Amino acid sequence: MRRKLIAGNWKMNHGPAATRAFFEELAPLVAGARPKTELCIAAPAVSLPAAVEAARAFEARTGVPIQIAAQNAHGLAQGAFTGEISAPMLKEIGVSLVLVGHSERRTLFGETDALIAARAQGILAQGLGVIYCVGETLAEREAGRTQSVLESQLRHVPWDAGEHLVIAYEPVWAIGTGVTATPDQAQDAHAFIRKHMLPAVAARTRILYGGSVTPENATSLLVCPDVDGALVGGASLKAVSFAGIVGKTPLASI
Ligand code: PGA
Repeated sequence: MRRKLIAGNWKMNHGPAATRAFFEELAPLVAGARPKTELCIAAPAVSLPAAVEAARAFEARTGVPIQIAAQNAHGLAQGAFTGEISAPMLKEIGVSLVLVGHSERRTLFGETDALIAARAQGILAQGLGVIYCVGETLAEREAGRTQSVLESQLRHVPWDAGEHLVIAYEPVWAIGTGVTATPDQAQDAHAFIRKHMLPAVAARTRILYGGSVTPENATSLLVCPDVDGALVGGASLKAVSFAGIVGKTPLASI
């Protein structure tokens, strides 16, 4: 059985003070709720220590664990890579997951499939989990190239990582646009991605949907058989809407 995972991606929002305030607000909203749903927040690097500390206090108060994720990390443990942070550094402060290959990293910062794969491999080798993002642009979808784009992005995924590997399908045209994929579009893409995996990997690997998920549309997406959770950007910034999505999450996907 794959447990649902609801992961918030704060992008370049929420410094340490706003991070602490978010967890304060979230606590009464999710206390005791949905214990079988896993929760995660991907905070900006500078807010990660505050997020880890706040998540620990939050769990002590509510009984609900929340994993803290970084939004990117280098594949190597250390070295001359100005501006980068490494998985061992993240592990040392209590971070347990890292997003890689988000479309903003691909399109705005020129990260390639090869670089993303190297990051993922290195991070997994250091014992952290990875949320590996893939997804097509609108032009690619309209040109009927969704499957071939996904295929080439998936070619680089380190599939042997076990449960530490989570895939996020995020159609670029749905990210931050308010245009959500329909449940059929999401299910089709997720089923296509799952077909790429060996049967044992397919059974255990969670595939999150991301792109304009809100409390209003969450249930229709999360009931799809191959949708194992959500990667939520804008709606994860406010505790009330993040909690709203968590509250709409069915308890198991299969
Ligand atoms: P959104 O972002 O929910 O604001 O569309 C999703 C993401 O980029 O992960």
